[in-house]
Amino acid sequence: MADPLEQQARAVQAHAYAPYSNYRVGAALEATDGRVFVGCNIENASYGLTLCAERAAVSRAVADGARRFRRLVVVSDSEPPASMCGACRQVLFEFGSELVVESIGPDSRHRWLLGDLLPAAFSKGTLA
Ligand code: THU
Repeated sequence: MADPLEQQARAVQAHAYAPYSNYRVGAALEATDGRVFVGCNIENASYGLTLCAERAAVSRAVADGARRFRRLVVVSDSEPPASMCGACRQVLFEFGSELVVESIGPDSRHRWLLGDLLPAAFSKGTLA
């Protein structure tokens, strides 16, 4: 596993708090300045409050002053690899449609542009 983003996503996947679904997700988000922000899913007994790994990663990034991103790597144990949920697509779209999103499972991977995952997005341009 040579990709450092994949390594970091796998490492943080081990910290996922997923006692209800047992579906563990790790995400590594690379900013254009080279910094990497990681996140894992955090479930809650009040199920609807669950936080996805991708939104956990972008929360850390924005809190540290990063808003421009290059690539997001998401790892899970599902095959074929799952694509990101709709809420996370929308939250990440706020920071640009050119983000490369890579989803990695045990045996295969998929790669998309965020803009292709969320066509006709509601965005800040709509509010201008
Ligand atoms: N999950 C993520 O972390 N990212 C996604 O894009 C899809 C779903 C988490 C939320 C929940 O803890 C578990 O996976 C099952 O839905």
